[in-house]
Amino acid sequence: MSETDKLFAETRVRNEDFTFGKDTAAVFDDMLDRSVPFYAEIQRMLGELSADFAVDGTAIFDLGCSTANTFLAVGAMLRPELNVRFVGLDSSEDMLRRAEQKLVATRFPWSYTLAHQDMNDGLQIENASVALMVLTLQFVRPLNREAVVSSVYRGLNHNGCFLLVEKVLGEHSTFNRLFIDHYYEMKRRKGYSDLEISQKREALENVLIPYRLEENKRLLRHVGFQHVDVFFKWYNFCGIIAIK
Ligand SMILES: C[S@@+](CC[C@H](N)C(=O)[O-])C[C@H]1O[C@@H](n2cnc3c(N)ncnc32)[C@H](O)[C@@H]1O
Repeated sequence: MSETDKLFAETRVRNEDFTFGKDTAAVFDDMLDRSVPFYAEIQRMLGELSADFAVDGTAIFDLGCSTANTFLAVGAMLRPELNVRFVGLDSSEDMLRRAEQKLVATRFPWSYTLAHQDMNDGLQIENASVALMVLTLQFVRPLNREAVVSSVYRGLNHNGCFLLVEKVLGEHSTFNRLFIDHYYEMKRRKGYSDLEISQKREALENVLIPYRLEENKRLLRHVGFQHVDVFFKWYNFCGIIAIK
């Protein structure tokens, strides 16, 4: 359903900040596949880990659900007799439209709600056994991140699980430079040109603000999560699991 991502292929006279509007939504699955290392494997792991924590009669929240790939990955791993409700939130109506189309086209068998929500304005979660936030906290304004993660913590049931995937900074500037160099090499291997890589980097500069892995872990512990561990790491990308 996704078109090939050529958003940054032509020279841009005025390279504006990256957005998740219609043009991005139309190519987003291709963009994810070619811009996120091990994207399919990360989704598979999210499915497995979510299935470990999903509890009958609860909700599974995907915060920044984009085109619903995580709904599909998690839904595929759950025991069919489980009674759970999926809730997908996103601040982009265009992404939510794509998500709805995909869930209908694939006959997603679980009950679900997709809703528009800008997490900078707050977040209401309740009765969740699993909450996922995949490559999205990095787009929430740093000032609001603690409130968002705190709401996730409050909305999870006891023993509930939070799965957080983020782009991260290296713990030292040397690691950071090397990790980013190797990340751009991956993007070249996936067919992006130097122009596409540099224009996208510029467009994301004010919009995607990564923390270090340790800062993300500290934030999770600070809001109350008892157990925090890393389930995925590739250069400047990581997946963290936290249990309430
Ligand atoms: C990189 S994409 C997430 C990818 C998706 N979770 C997946 O695994 O395929 C980031 C998503 O977060 C949404 N987003 C960005 N800022 C947001 C905010 N403040 N509140 C809610 N959603 C936001 C964007 O619209 C976009 O769909």
